[in-house]
Amino acid sequence: MSETKYLFKRDHTWWVKIAVPRTLRKELGYDLRRSLHTADLEDARAARDQIVAEFRERIAEARERQEAAAGAPACRASAESQPAAGFEITERQDFSDATYLLEVHHPMLARAAAPGQFVVVISHERGERIPLTIADFDRKAGTITLVVQAVGKTTREMQKRCQVGTRLSGLVGPMGIPSEIGGARKVVCVGGGLGVAPIFPQLRAFKQSGAYVIGVVGFRNRELVFWRDKFEEYCDEFIICTDDGSAGIKGLVTDGIEQALERHNDVDRLVAIGPPIMMRACAETTRPHGIETIVSLNPIMVDGTGMCGGCRVQVGDKTRFACVEGPEFNGHEVDFDDLMSRLRRFSTQEKQALDAWSKATDGAELG
Ligand SMILES: Cc1cc2nc3c(=O)[nH]c(=O)nc-3n(C[C@H](O)[C@H](O)[C@H](O)COP(=O)(O)OP(=O)(O)OC[C@H]3O[C@@H](n4cnc5c(N)ncnc54)[C@H](O)[C@@H]3O)c2cc1C
Ligand code: FES
Repeated sequence: MSETKYLFKRDHTWWVKIAVPRTLRKELGYDLRRSLHTADLEDARAARDQIVAEFRERIAEARERQEAAAGAPACRASAESQPAAGFEITERQDFSDATYLLEVHHPMLARAAAPGQFVVVISHERGERIPLTIADFDRKAGTITLVVQAVGKTTREMQKRCQVGTRLSGLVGPMGIPSEIGGARKVVCVGGGLGVAPIFPQLRAFKQSGAYVIGVVGFRNRELVFWRDKFEEYCDEFIICTDDGSAGIKGLVTDGIEQALERHNDVDRLVAIGPPIMMRACAETTRPHGIETIVSLNPIMVDGTGMCGGCRVQVGDKTRFACVEGPEFNGHEVDFDDLMSRLRRFSTQEKQALDAWSKATDGAELG
């Protein structure tokens, strides 16, 4: 066995990776990887075996489940005794007219999830696949939390359909490379719009790793603020920014970042999640200070497995696939103009889909 078996290096850090058998990729994702948070090969080798064993266990469990499912119909006495298909929604909260939280039961996913990763959801049999960040996970309860903004046809349809006790037809993940948490002593974690909930698991992981954590979150106004207590529990400093000043400071998240940087000249990393225009502004705020800046990109994704090329982004002089090589990248190198123009490519079709769905469901109850 080669000394670096299962190990690979990315951005000066060793990672462990195991390819998932083709038949299990739908359930487990393309491959299983985890950062070892070290640049030292000896340390990486020492940490490798336990993680490889853990990954093998997950593959074995998935295989057992698959075999049981394949063998089960013949053993079942009747169709009634078959377990319900899909993944049960165990909790729902509505933070505003447009933002809602879904807690979904999927013990294996909850066990495997790491900060920075996402899932692909299909809400019903004929539904579209959409990527959503894992905003929280509870390994004990076997649940993951998604926070969704209703912006178009699928997210609005889910807003109507997804109630406690109903099921998501498909849920695949965890996908993407987990966030790199180690190595930072003072971190600013920024979330705005779609990015407020997804920044939470990283912020918590930074705090748990011993870093000093400054949270900066942006909302339009006080009514839209959510998870204040959750953030405060893990932040050494927490800055809320609202457009109208009705909560926290009046201004954008960049004003919150400026305030944090005035107080601290030793911030060594900033992580930003939100609309591309916000992430670009965050990267421009930190550039003169030379602070490492990580952004989580949200290009349109189709398969989520690196096969279709739909999620291409330009980072430095390279084309990267956000679904398998990201979604996190160096914010100072991302071509945000390219990302924003690619996000607009299907706006006509998106509008048509929303109009047709709105017309078809106007006043109708969805089952
Ligand atoms: C890795 C990743 C993680 C994501 N995590 C979350 C999350 O946690 N919560 C959440 O609410 N959304 C998240 N998104 C965005 C979400 O997938 C899209 O909002 C969703 O697919 C839109 O589908 P729709 O049919 O409702 O809207 P569409 O009709 O497809 O689009 C409606 C509007 O939303 C914009 N839009 C479409 N796709 C995206 C996208 N990928 N990112 C940003 N804007 C988009 C369109 O440009 C359009 O203006 C994530 C996207 C990615 C790639
Ligand atoms: S979504 Fe298809 S390659 Fe990334």
